[in-house]
Amino acid sequence: MADRVVILGSGAMGSLYGGMLAEAGVPVTLVDVWKEHMDAVNRDGLIIEGVSGDRVVRSLRGVTDPREAGEADLVLVFVKATMTKAAMEGARCLLGPDTAVLTLQNGLGNAEKLSDVAGASRVLAGITGHGCNILGPGRIRHAGTGDTILGELDGSATDRLARIAALFGRAGFSVKTSSNVLGMIWAKLLVNVGINALTAVTGLKNGRLVELPEADELLEAAVREAMAVAERKGIRVEAEDPVAHTRDVARRTAANRSSMLQDVSAERQTEIDVINGAIVDEGKRLGVPTPVNLCLANLIRIRQQTYEEREK
Ligand code: PAF
Repeated sequence: MADRVVILGSGAMGSLYGGMLAEAGVPVTLVDVWKEHMDAVNRDGLIIEGVSGDRVVRSLRGVTDPREAGEADLVLVFVKATMTKAAMEGARCLLGPDTAVLTLQNGLGNAEKLSDVAGASRVLAGITGHGCNILGPGRIRHAGTGDTILGELDGSATDRLARIAALFGRAGFSVKTSSNVLGMIWAKLLVNVGINALTAVTGLKNGRLVELPEADELLEAAVREAMAVAERKGIRVEAEDPVAHTRDVARRTAANRSSMLQDVSAERQTEIDVINGAIVDEGKRLGVPTPVNLCLANLIRIRQQTYEEREK
């Protein structure tokens, strides 16, 4: 595999991964519908601030239309989980005979949606422990670091998995591979279940959740409900103690405004349906009660349906 990487969905996280890969000499094209952001990257470079140092990455280009990006060796998908299917459908032109498609998105169901459009044999999945915010067009803040964990959907140890892991390693990511990527995705989902909606409802940065007993109590309850759902589904969640792990992530990304808080602040639709909402849906299907997740999910849904009614 040569290393032409296209980032499908270049908000905060997509830009961070694209920027770091480009810094390592990988030819990267960012794709995003946000024209101002793509224009700023093309004009001034991608400005990265934060934990990995302040710098400008000029060796990458941004486009709004996937057709301008050309065929890729690796499509790294970072669009909002609610957009996964539509984004991949609009980006079939990126797929050559050997193109791999890797999702590092939050939420449940992304690998399945990508498989439906691109074919399951292309798709790999993973999780990222990095946190990142958009500061404005062409400018991101790298707020927290963590591992990038990748795997084939069937758990096998393929050459392409090793090559993609090596590529990320060269770009400075702390990267691991897993034969239980579904269990990894669930472990990450449990973190998002505990942190994202709660920060978006309260307006707090991640770290405050574990400092305020009332917030911490809700974090724990939401995660425990989701653990019960995972257990009923027979998922081998890759975290010894998901509640402790979620608290640890909240502490390590203390200064971060979660992706869902960023979404509600910018009055965008959130990923609630594939995070707490997905736990409620699965819980209903399996007969597992999930009242805290229902409450968090509906509070976010009410908020995102009523942005226009709020006093500014
Ligand atoms: O969605 C997010 O913001 C991140 O996954 C996490 C880990 C909660 C950090 O902010």
